[in-house]
Amino acid sequence: MTSFTHVDLDIDGDIATIRLNRPEKKNALSPEMHRNMHQAIDEIEARKGVKVVVVTGTGDAFCGGMDLELCFLEPFNEPERFDASNQLAVSWSRRLKFISAVTIAKVNGWCFGHGFQLAGMCDIVIAAEEATFGLSEINFGIFPGGGTMWIAAHNMGRKQALYYALTGETFTGKEAVALGMATRAVPRSELDETVDKIAQSLAKKNVHALASTKQVYESAVELDFPKSIDMELAKLYELSYLSENEWIRLGLEQFKRRAYRPGLESYKTDAGKES
Ligand code: COA
Repeated sequence: MTSFTHVDLDIDGDIATIRLNRPEKKNALSPEMHRNMHQAIDEIEARKGVKVVVVTGTGDAFCGGMDLELCFLEPFNEPERFDASNQLAVSWSRRLKFISAVTIAKVNGWCFGHGFQLAGMCDIVIAAEEATFGLSEINFGIFPGGGTMWIAAHNMGRKQALYYALTGETFTGKEAVALGMATRAVPRSELDETVDKIAQSLAKKNVHALASTKQVYESAVELDFPKSIDMELAKLYELSYLSENEWIRLGLEQFKRRAYRPGLESYKTDAGKES
């Protein structure tokens, strides 16, 4: 495990875990933590082939959002320092949103502001039923910014995103599922085990297939149907090349021998070969 100042990174085989570790401040993101997030992402990217990145928080908070004092109040009268602090935050967000590994937010508790954004930018969100989500910016006189409104608008319906952004009301992890902000909610006591199972199952899939599934999803929401068909075909050929035709060599060859049922499970990968 690597410990940066307030962020811990653990890489175990194909699965990396980023843990925000500033529980005394509800894991609110200080400028140092923004640097730590870059360091963690640098290390994950340097370690080729990580398939899953789990993001979570220590204690009773997932993330209390931007550190309102250190990121906003204190540097506000120094425009360049204020902007640098914001740029530091949005630049790791951009990197994590487009990382090739599958990202899972394990939302263990309080989830506000930039923490809301962090959860929402992940591909999969597993929340504790008892967790509390909120777009609290209106409560201190601004709007969800730096990408957080985009996350609300692209995950929740219009009437929900606007309601929660305008009122600052909170919602639970259980409610987050119906609102589109979480994939699944489980009791806090089952959170670790649930996320572990999902991460382990993803780690059995082909690394290139995981990455291209994410890319094809992102382009499918942007493109019209004919353009998406072209993109999806092109991506299939690219994936075949990058994975040395593993889907034909192993996936479909094993199916031909009826060695597994693709509707219910994954094919077996080469022993000792990158999958
Ligand atoms: N920025 C700076 N400090 C924060 C923080 C933030 N976003 N979120 C929590 N903290 C600090 C608190 O000020 C407190 O510091 P202190 O011990 O020096 O007084 C400490 O973390 C513990 O928080 P506390 O408010 O005592 O815990 P709580 O359990 O009563 O309430 C929250 C938890 C998350 C509801 C509350 O801390 C809160 O409203 N935080 C701000 C959330 C927010 O609006 N984030 C959006 C930022 S963009």
